[in-house]
Amino acid sequence: MNNTSMKSINLRIDHAVGFIHPDILSACIKDAEKAFQALTNRTGAGREFLGWLDLPEQTSQAELDQIAKVVSRFQTLDAIVVIGIGGSYLGARAIMEALQHNFQSFLKNKQSHIFYAGQNLSEDYLSELVDVLDELSYGIIVISKSGTTTEPGIAFRILREHLAKQIGDDESAKRIVAVTDKEKGALKKMSDKTGYQTFVIPDDVGGRYSVLTAVGLLPIAASGIPIHELIGGAEAMKKRCMEKTDWKENPALAYAILRNALYRSGKHTEIMAVYNPKLQMFAEWWKQLYGESEGKEGKGIFPASVSFTTDLHSLGQYIQDGERFLFETILSVTSNERMLQIPSSLQNADGLNYLTGKRLEEVNKMAETGTMLAHLDGNVPNLILEIPKLTSYYLGQLIYLFEFACGISGYMLGVNPFDQPGVEAYKKNMFALLKKPGFESESEKIYNRLKSSSGSPVDSSQ
Ligand code: PA5
Repeated sequence: MNNTSMKSINLRIDHAVGFIHPDILSACIKDAEKAFQALTNRTGAGREFLGWLDLPEQTSQAELDQIAKVVSRFQTLDAIVVIGIGGSYLGARAIMEALQHNFQSFLKNKQSHIFYAGQNLSEDYLSELVDVLDELSYGIIVISKSGTTTEPGIAFRILREHLAKQIGDDESAKRIVAVTDKEKGALKKMSDKTGYQTFVIPDDVGGRYSVLTAVGLLPIAASGIPIHELIGGAEAMKKRCMEKTDWKENPALAYAILRNALYRSGKHTEIMAVYNPKLQMFAEWWKQLYGESEGKEGKGIFPASVSFTTDLHSLGQYIQDGERFLFETILSVTSNERMLQIPSSLQNADGLNYLTGKRLEEVNKMAETGTMLAHLDGNVPNLILEIPKLTSYYLGQLIYLFEFACGISGYMLGVNPFDQPGVEAYKKNMFALLKKPGFESESEKIYNRLKSSSGSPVDSSQ
């Protein structure tokens, strides 16, 4: 164990408990105990999707060796395109953005550049990515558990043809790696037929809980980040989460209890606040994890995020003074990698000499503390997750903490935190509008509906 692995993420609850009626808190503590039992004894709803609970220790050396081989094969390339959406995309990007240089692509001696595709349907985005790839040598990591998701499916179709044109069919097949189901889906079939190397997403791990499988590990490793530390962090957090101590000592349990207690006290929107822009994508990952796990059956805390101090000049006004249904969860990084002191100025024309010699991070911390106190005055309770440093190890801890807490929190709400029935609604309409085979009858209905309510449907021939 290295030094950092001796420390752990800490949840500060002192700015939340005072906002909660003792009866609500007691009820939540009782509910959390039942939820904890349901999760750890694997008796709750969606129990067939609890493989993620054991991922940190069950990642095999054989799989890590395979990942290392792909990484070494790809490291001579200018770029890697990671194709995927939702749970097959957000975790990897969250970790990479948290740990990479902010201006990675401008560094000399850089790693292969990582691009993302298949996470939207924007024609501009993909066309402009192709413009860039025209000039580069690149490989593709395509990730889809179902192997049939439209957005990554289209991006993969366009990019594999682009790559084949660039280097030929045989060579391009060696530059494509697929992460998908062990037997189902178009991507698996195509991989078998074409000879792409594949990694398996286990049946019992749902998309948004899959960052510690090859879904996250492969692209993260390809970006040069030490994945054994990520796994080690998750493993250490698993031990803490599984411990049946006082709830206050178990950060996942405490987080689940307090966010539910705040919800039951009328605070139905949780805002994740970050003070380092490198954590913005981590907040996106968290929003997907909690939004897709809990927002169902007319229930659920709405997960939102802000990036401070930027958003203090925008949403800060609402958070301070708007409708009072908010609470905040702050990702507070204790110590920084870099050091930048504010210089003195002879003229002091900007009036900033009172900051001379201070580190920029000290100013950032004072903004964090000042904001937290102001929001408390504005009736916005907060939970603070103290992260000793932005490292792979602590991010591994954070991932496991949030996943474990999400399972407990979902059960406390009375929903199945491992399904996502609501995401099918838009797909059904989109397929009907695009006249996908099998959706003919829906097609007619939806076009009639559009005609009667808001004029003609979009004509795709234009
Ligand atoms: O978390 C989830 O289950 C979803 O966000 C999926 O990951 C997302 O829809 C992509 O699905 P797939 O991996 O099957 O392409």
